[in-house]
Amino acid sequence: MSTKDHVLELLERQRGESVSGEHLAGILGISRNAVWKAIKELRKDGYDITAVTNKGYCLSDENDIVSVSGIRPFLSENSLPYAEKIRIFKTLESTNKTAKEMAIAGAEHGTVIISDCQTMGRGRYARSFFSPPGGGLYMSIVLRPDVLRFEDPTAVTAFAAVSVCEAIESVSPQKPKIKWVNDVLIHGKKVCGILTEAVTDLESGSLEWIVLGIGINVSIRDEDFPGELRPLAASIYPDEKVSGARNQLCAEMINRVLGFKTPPSEADIFEKYRQRLAMLGKEITVIQEQTAYRATALDVDPAGHLIVKNEKGELITLSAGEIRIQQ
Ligand code: BTN
Repeated sequence: MSTKDHVLELLERQRGESVSGEHLAGILGISRNAVWKAIKELRKDGYDITAVTNKGYCLSDENDIVSVSGIRPFLSENSLPYAEKIRIFKTLESTNKTAKEMAIAGAEHGTVIISDCQTMGRGRYARSFFSPPGGGLYMSIVLRPDVLRFEDPTAVTAFAAVSVCEAIESVSPQKPKIKWVNDVLIHGKKVCGILTEAVTDLESGSLEWIVLGIGINVSIRDEDFPGELRPLAASIYPDEKVSGARNQLCAEMINRVLGFKTPPSEADIFEKYRQRLAMLGKEITVIQEQTAYRATALDVDPAGHLIVKNEKGELITLSAGEIRIQQ
């Protein structure tokens, strides 16, 4: 870690408060002049740091730049080793694309790719994912099956969806719900999409790696979503930028997806997933390939499949596809 990163981490830990140059220099074992140089570099990077005589340096509450130094203070003890594996970019086509390239090149379990914005953010069914700068958290995590293995691959997505809900709850008063298969909703609108991509070794048939892509609307204002998304999309904080929110949210995701003490059981994951489902008992439209039909969502089975009843009263178990909840 560079001096600049060390200084930033100390300021991040006391966001909005003044920390004296002497104190920073003492902790880091460097001169006050070196602290000053680091502050100058951080300001160049866009950090709003004020210097007040006899008080010291203060990182403004307004700053919401995602950085390893900003994420680290919120990492649990188990997650701390993963701080070394975080790579942050200003702009990427897609964090999933970069993470896949890195996985192919041998990136380890727990490599985390984050970008402030994406120029070609991707969703399921080759759709695009709106990813403007400053307001969202776009991250992809490389998972290796020797560390996190699920018999049923859909458990990864369910695990991610539950983790997103819990992470959002830990940083805000929101109570997110899940829309089968992998959307997270706030007040019925989509706040997060998850795209899981995997590669299997053709000879052995075993899973080589998974890239778990997560896109969360953190503080995108309603009016800043494109017209067609406006009625459907939501942010955690639609009315304000919250100090350090993206850093904390990112750490909370890493704590859940990577920093577990014992690997989560699939039964546990699907039970938590079930409890958070938004549409059980509701009228839905099921869309599969070229067809669409009305049904009632009844339950999810222990493997995460959605059980629905169509208008003829037949029970159907869905393992893939898309549904729309009737309002
Ligand atoms: C969906 O809604 O269908 C899934 C959206 C997944 C978006 C995330 S953002 C980070 C990662 N990079 C991508 O290109 N997609 C995922």
